[in-house]
Amino acid sequence: MIILGIESSCDETAAAVAANNTVWSNPVANQTVHEKYGGVVPELASRAHQKNIVPVVDAALKSAGIMKEELNAVAFTNGPGLIGSLMVGTSFAKAFALALNIPIITVNHLHAHVLALFAQRKNESKEVPGFPFLCLTVSGGHTQIVLVKDYFEMEIIGQTLDDAAGEAFDKIAKILQLPFPGGPLIDKLAREGNPKAFKFPHPVMHKYDYSFSGIKTSVLYYVRREMQRDPSFIENNLADLCASVQQTIIQVLMKKLLIASEDTGIRQIGVAGGVSANSGLRNALMKAGEENKWKVYIPPIEFCTDNAGMIAVTGYYKYKAKIFESHTVAPFARFSGF
Ligand code: KG4
Ligand code: ZN
Repeated sequence: MIILGIESSCDETAAAVAANNTVWSNPVANQTVHEKYGGVVPELASRAHQKNIVPVVDAALKSAGIMKEELNAVAFTNGPGLIGSLMVGTSFAKAFALALNIPIITVNHLHAHVLALFAQRKNESKEVPGFPFLCLTVSGGHTQIVLVKDYFEMEIIGQTLDDAAGEAFDKIAKILQLPFPGGPLIDKLAREGNPKAFKFPHPVMHKYDYSFSGIKTSVLYYVRREMQRDPSFIENNLADLCASVQQTIIQVLMKKLLIASEDTGIRQIGVAGGVSANSGLRNALMKAGEENKWKVYIPPIEFCTDNAGMIAVTGYYKYKAKIFESHTVAPFARFSGF
């Protein structure tokens, strides 16, 4: 089964070719246009998708060594995300599939982040989780603990009630005068810093729920106060600030995951979404895995941050289950369940 996957929900234009759950090509066109604005500008994202979509699909087919006539279906993200961005991928996918006379498959972006745990790379055979398992999905827009019972049966048992973990990384990076997206930069700088240098409060939330806006506010107030004393406070303490912020976010994420695992008795733990590229979080998961006899599943970084490989692989599972979509389908902005 050869599936073309298309992802355009936010600021990455991506296409991929997968043969069953093996990803043969997975190019991503990043949009640098947002850097100077400190966040994604929806209008600019749509225009960049429009420019990128054909070259990215072309690159995916070429690098997979596949002719478009060999495709069995086109799978594309139809939400959640920015509507203008999603419309580019949706319209392209429909037209492409129509011209080739093959079916279309819609993919929920968050479903795909979870199923990225099942993606294989060519000539590689990675161990994948069995069901049920818990998946910590941490991205720029969402933070969820998902109880995954099957490829299609997933229950959100905990989630953030305000900012997502990636959003917290990015907003705090902005406070620290770092360019967007700040998550990867905080990760890099944190490696040189002392995670115990500064203390930020941990939120108290119900059961497996999260909150990250308090950490952001506390960093903002702390930095503002210190800068009155020393205008170069950020510069002089950047690595320590990054290490301390990263450590706080990771501790908060891990604490609820630990409770969820204890309560459910589930010891197979996966991680998904852009923030799962964070080296500190990956290490914390491995360590918790050893301490709690977990079996931990961490996807390669190319399947963590937004990519179309995960869309093509989800498309494959939906194809196998014969879940196709009609051409009247339209994208949606907000997540309302799997
Ligand atoms: O899943 P993703 O690529 O897009 C969404 O679906 O939102 O996640 C993007 C988020 C951004 O907030 C970005 O800063 C964060 O993932 N991120 C990281 C790292 N790499 C990406 N955060 C911390 N450390 C990283 N290494
Ligand atoms: Zn994502």
